[in-house]
Amino acid sequence: MRLTALSSLIAFASASNLPSPAYFFSNPESKHEGAFKIPTVHESAVQARRVLHLETIGTLSTIFPSTHSTENRPSNVGGTPIGLMDYFGDCEPSTGNPTILAISIATSFKNVAAGSNITLSLRWHAPYKRPYSAAAVPRFSVIGHLEELSAEDVAKQNVAACFVKYHPDAVAWLPGNRIHESKWVRLVVEEVYWIGGFGDRAYIGWIPLEEWQSVTKEEIDQAKLPGESTGWNSWKSYLGFEEANEEEVIEL
Ligand SMILES: *[C@@H]1O[C@H](CO)[C@@H](O)[C@H](O)[C@H]1NC(C)=O
Repeated sequence: MRLTALSSLIAFASASNLPSPAYFFSNPESKHEGAFKIPTVHESAVQARRVLHLETIGTLSTIFPSTHSTENRPSNVGGTPIGLMDYFGDCEPSTGNPTILAISIATSFKNVAAGSNITLSLRWHAPYKRPYSAAAVPRFSVIGHLEELSAEDVAKQNVAACFVKYHPDAVAWLPGNRIHESKWVRLVVEEVYWIGGFGDRAYIGWIPLEEWQSVTKEEIDQAKLPGESTGWNSWKSYLGFEEANEEEVIEL
């Protein structure tokens, strides 16, 4: 099974004229001293906070309540998770708690009102170059609960302006609009699960909340995500292909 997958990967890589897949399965650190270092947990937290800052759309996962309800939904979905696309904004940078505009009649927020916790999952979309493998690109989930923003927070943090900068179309359903009841909420992050890419060159695991919260604006501004600048080079260094050569292919 593994060998078949491996062979097709090799075939794929050579057919598309890409660097060898050798590094998917072996850590160059052991062979080339200092050539590549797996990012630390804190560096991963910085990358995660940069993804949160630059991305705008994710998936909200909640759980349908088990209790009987008058809602029009199949009777057997109680206790089952559902993931739905939604907007978020990085509008509370001091904590990294994402801001969400909760529409009362939307399933995610009805589930939360019925007692569900909530998870926001997102992934990095590089603006310049499509990665040869989406599995190599950072993605993560923040797990927590929703909390309504006070009127004071909304005003003091300029939440509406921040959110609309990310989502100009959302002006149509800001709190107080005539169509849908909505309110500002924060996803109070309690846990962070990060997959930086392939496990031999990226951190995969839980990021402690203190690391997530202690990331500074300067760190977020200075971090560079794979594919953020033009050209293959911005992927190459991230993925550790710099030292890849024919020999490693044969070693496979
Ligand atoms: C929500 O998460 C908290 C932990 O943060 C947990 O104690 C609680 O049981 C969860 N609620 C539900 C409905 O799963």
